[in-house]
Amino acid sequence: MIEIKGVNTIDGTVIDVIVESMHNKILQAGHLHLFPCLIDPHVHFRVPGQEHKEDWKTASKAAIYGGIGTVFDMPNNQPPCTTHQALKDKKQKIAHELREAGIPLHRYFYFGVDRNTLDEIPKVKGEVIGLKVFMGSSTGSLLIDDDETLDRVFSLAKDLDLIVAVHAEDEKMIQERKKSAASSYSSHSVVRSPEVAAAAIKKAIALVRKYKTRLYILHVSSDAELNLIRAAKREGLPVYAECCPHHLFLNDQVYEKLQGKAVVNPPLRSEKDRQALWDAIDDETIDTIGSDHAPHTIEEKRKPYGSCPSGMPGVETLLPLLINAYHMGKISLQRIASLTSGRVKEIFRLPPDKNVLLVDLERVKKVDDSHLKTKVKWSPFAGETLKGWPAYVILNGEIWNLS
Ligand code: DOR
Ligand code: ZN
Repeated sequence: MIEIKGVNTIDGTVIDVIVESMHNKILQAGHLHLFPCLIDPHVHFRVPGQEHKEDWKTASKAAIYGGIGTVFDMPNNQPPCTTHQALKDKKQKIAHELREAGIPLHRYFYFGVDRNTLDEIPKVKGEVIGLKVFMGSSTGSLLIDDDETLDRVFSLAKDLDLIVAVHAEDEKMIQERKKSAASSYSSHSVVRSPEVAAAAIKKAIALVRKYKTRLYILHVSSDAELNLIRAAKREGLPVYAECCPHHLFLNDQVYEKLQGKAVVNPPLRSEKDRQALWDAIDDETIDTIGSDHAPHTIEEKRKPYGSCPSGMPGVETLLPLLINAYHMGKISLQRIASLTSGRVKEIFRLPPDKNVLLVDLERVKKVDDSHLKTKVKWSPFAGETLKGWPAYVILNGEIWNLS
């Protein structure tokens, strides 16, 4: 067993912890804080089909170095994960990669909704964490842009007691606004404006009102979206909201510096919207934080606007950014634990796990592209000095020393 001696809790006490393990080890942890291992409810680890961007050997290591013990992986793969067979094949491939990596990362899978394979949904009920609906197009081919199919999906999900996670951007508005758009990276934020996201959220919430389907709204990024979600929650609807580190820590002024690296769906927003997200963390309109780890190679991100894919890596910087924000007085440690673990467990009804994370709140380190474990080896936060980094992760009785 592993004995963790004198570790600080996030509530301000000091305790000893014993973790079941094949190994015998004593960790003197007086300088460390005990956290639940992070659960990242939103990653794109790219298997199968886009292994040149990421695979589970690199991604699982990146996750561990970010203090993450559990991930929910998205279905926009090649082929997309929209059939029972595709799901089985994907799980098998990933189990193999994790065995090779020697990292027993806990994982759950979203099932992609495609109008041609709706009859596959009942078959995967017990095998997926939820359904993923792209209301607007993004990386990959998944898209539900007609109201009739969307209605059927919400009705079916309610019958099967499956949560629906939406990428809420209105496709028709995106296509319309693209026609008159400039061709600079920053025009991405103009094309996919907050109104585009809000229109889709309005539609999804109306379906929750109709069917009482549980709805998880991914990567909420603007005040307009938050107001709709706040009202839905007040109404007592089962609506939950996630936000992402890039929307919390970056705004639409960074295109000049980051160029194509800043392009993401939904896009980076105004400073006012960014502040609104922090207010929504305070008033608990936001339930969870997901990294939306969506790696693309640096060569792909250097392509001109229009060819440059959307998305950025994030599993390794999520926790250090939040702990750094704690040092700046923006968020409490308890709130960080709730957003990155407690609320995720409640919303997705996860079984208890015995994963342990020890954080060195005082460690100061610069984000350095060359040290990253993700295959793409870049971060939009490169060069930033952050205070507070994960020190140890214990998964299934195995210990990782991250320092
Ligand atoms: O920016 C994004 N990248 N948004 C998405 O919805 C998908 C993701 C990806 O898979 O690259
Ligand atoms: Zn995503």
